[in-house]
Amino acid sequence: MSVRETWATRIGFILVATGSAVGLGNIWRFPFLTAESGGAAFLIAYLILIVSVGLPLILAEFVIGRRTKRNVVGAFDELGRSNWKIVGGIGALAGFVILSYYSVVGGWVIQYIIASITGAYTSDPAAYFETASVGTNAVVFDALFMGFVAGIVALGIRNGLERAAKFMVPSVVVLLIVLSVYGATLDGSGAGYAFYLSPDPATLVSDAIGLLPDAAGQAFFTLSLGMGVMITYASYLGEDRSLLNDSLLILVVDTFIALLAGLAIFPFLFAEGIDPGTGGPGTVFVALGTAFAELPAGQLVGTVFYIALFMAALTSAFSILEVIVAYVTETFGFERKPATVGIAGVIFLIGIPTALDINVLNAYDVLANQVLLIGGGLLLAIFVGWFFAGEALEEFTTGSDGLEGLGTVWIWLLRIPITVLLLYVLYNGVLAT
Ligand code: PHE
Ligand code: NA
Repeated sequence: MSVRETWATRIGFILVATGSAVGLGNIWRFPFLTAESGGAAFLIAYLILIVSVGLPLILAEFVIGRRTKRNVVGAFDELGRSNWKIVGGIGALAGFVILSYYSVVGGWVIQYIIASITGAYTSDPAAYFETASVGTNAVVFDALFMGFVAGIVALGIRNGLERAAKFMVPSVVVLLIVLSVYGATLDGSGAGYAFYLSPDPATLVSDAIGLLPDAAGQAFFTLSLGMGVMITYASYLGEDRSLLNDSLLILVVDTFIALLAGLAIFPFLFAEGIDPGTGGPGTVFVALGTAFAELPAGQLVGTVFYIALFMAALTSAFSILEVIVAYVTETFGFERKPATVGIAGVIFLIGIPTALDINVLNAYDVLANQVLLIGGGLLLAIFVGWFFAGEALEEFTTGSDGLEGLGTVWIWLLRIPITVLLLYVLYNGVLAT
């Protein structure tokens, strides 16, 4: 076996892990799902789940990855718990499904970079979205996006990716702030903020409970959890880092960017009189299309925005393909380059139906997030909570002393409340597919 590559710089790991987390999940999926789900009650359910379920599960994945120094399937072999390899199988399956439509949305983003330059969407943003999102255009640009991802993965983990992540996060933040400030000046921004940020106290609790399955799916998706990305990334990690600090950092950055995306988008939705409940996957593209049409230097801002979004999508898509490629090359001994090309090709084929029909895209999205990621997360919680707790605690405190008490709380969270909640979410997800 070849010597495993490690991250090129000390902060390389944190950059790529953040690069995986921050992506279309924050800027495309979070706002449209929040819009569709009635706004503030969803936001609250989501925030609660990010902290109570997301954080413990990032830690669970980090602990397994750093302990075993293996990919998601090999990790369980290494631990002598081969039955649990099913977690890796579910993770790889989730990766195939997610990347197959993630790359379609990535293809939309490439089209929007070009359309920002040419001004193609300015006169009728909704009509432009229709032509970009389904059919030939969608398939062609899906292929282009997959080509970029496969190219980066084939070249190996060190090359360029850390640098891409380093520029992507600050650019995304700055652009979202620009958009938020502009949005705040619009008539209708008040209604947008009210929808997004102030829940109806009378129905908040029941609304939020009803939204738990969707919010949990989003929490997993946005944090890249449940399919072994964080296991794989942490497998390249040194012993000197505090897993808790790293997890918190990723969680804060990811959540901050999602919240900011909401702040940027809701004023436009309401100013433009778009019904938040009906936009679906097109919501963000259509709302921002009008924004860039009106904003001073809007085409330039739009171009830069979609380039940043493209980079964000690329670093996330990379992480998905990397998990699958790491597994296939380390398990079957295939060469990295042909394995990458073959897998990317299969994923592209699986995704074609989602590029032809947005309802299929939605169906893949529900299957991936509410069933596969949640299922993977459930098994991880049970595994770390009940079968790996001793070693997990030891690994948790490596690189950060004095956290034994917190570690015990963490294990018990995984054992009962998280397991029960994820069973409930999974049950709902299976009903929904
Ligand atoms: N977290 C990524 C995003 O928010 C998507 C993703 C999901 C990446 C699952 C890896 C695994 O865009
Ligand atoms: Na995210």
